[in-house]
Amino acid sequence: MDIKTHWENVYTSKTPDAVSWYRPHLEMSLSLIDRAAGGASASIIDVGGGESTLVDDLLARGYQNITVLDISQTAIDVTRKRLKEAAERVHWITTDVTKADLAPSAYDVWHDRAVFHFLTSIEQRVAYVENVAHAVKTGGHVIVSTFGPEGPTRCSGLDVMRYDAESLHDQFGTRFRLVESSKELHHTPSGTTLQFLYCYCRVE
Ligand SMILES: C[S@@+](CC[C@H](N)C(=O)[O-])C[C@H]1O[C@@H](n2cnc3c(N)ncnc32)[C@H](O)[C@@H]1O
Repeated sequence: MDIKTHWENVYTSKTPDAVSWYRPHLEMSLSLIDRAAGGASASIIDVGGGESTLVDDLLARGYQNITVLDISQTAIDVTRKRLKEAAERVHWITTDVTKADLAPSAYDVWHDRAVFHFLTSIEQRVAYVENVAHAVKTGGHVIVSTFGPEGPTRCSGLDVMRYDAESLHDQFGTRFRLVESSKELHHTPSGTTLQFLYCYCRVE
C-alpha cells in the first residue's frame, strides 16, 4: 500500500480524537510557535497537520498567514469542515512533503509534529530537509517534533525513527542552529504514554 493510501485509510476509519497522537491542544507546539513567530503576520506552515487543532488555535491567536500541508485529503477536508468559514483564511496543500513544490523562502516558521519520524529512508529525509532549507527564510525557525529515544518503534502500523536532540539536529545540518530541545510525555486517548522530542532550530 502506498503512503497516501495508508493515511487516507487512517483518517476514514478513525475519528480525530481516537488517534494515538491526538491532544485537545498542542500546547508545546503553540508555545514554541508563539516564541518563534514574532507577530501575527508571520508566515507559518504546519507540515502533516492532519486533523489536529493546531490550526484552530493559531487562528484564535490571530495569525494571519497559515498554511497546512498534509498527504491526506481526508484529513484536510475534516479540518476545513470543522473550521467552517475560517478555513478560507488558511492555505491548504495536499501533497507528500518530500515531493512538495513549495515557494522559495516562503515561511518564517516551519512546524512538524510527528511526521519526520515516519521518514525511514535517507532519500526521504534528504528530500524533506532540502524542502525546509528551500522554503524557510534565512533567519526563520524550524520546530520539529519526533518520537524521543524512549518513544515507540512503530506508529499507526508504520515503522518510525526515534531521535534525541543531537541525532535529530544532525539530520538537518549546520545551517540549522539548534536553539532548544525538550521532551514531552504524551498521554494517548487509550491511556498509554509516548515520549516526544521537540527541536527548535533557527535557519542561519
Ligand atoms: C501522526 S500524524 C500527526 C498529525 C499532527 N501533526 C498532530 O500532531 O496531531 C502524521 C500526519 O502526517 C501526515 N503525513 C505522513 N506522511 C506525510 C508526508 N510524507 N507528507 C505529508 N504529510 C504526511 C499524515 O497524513 C498525518 O496527518
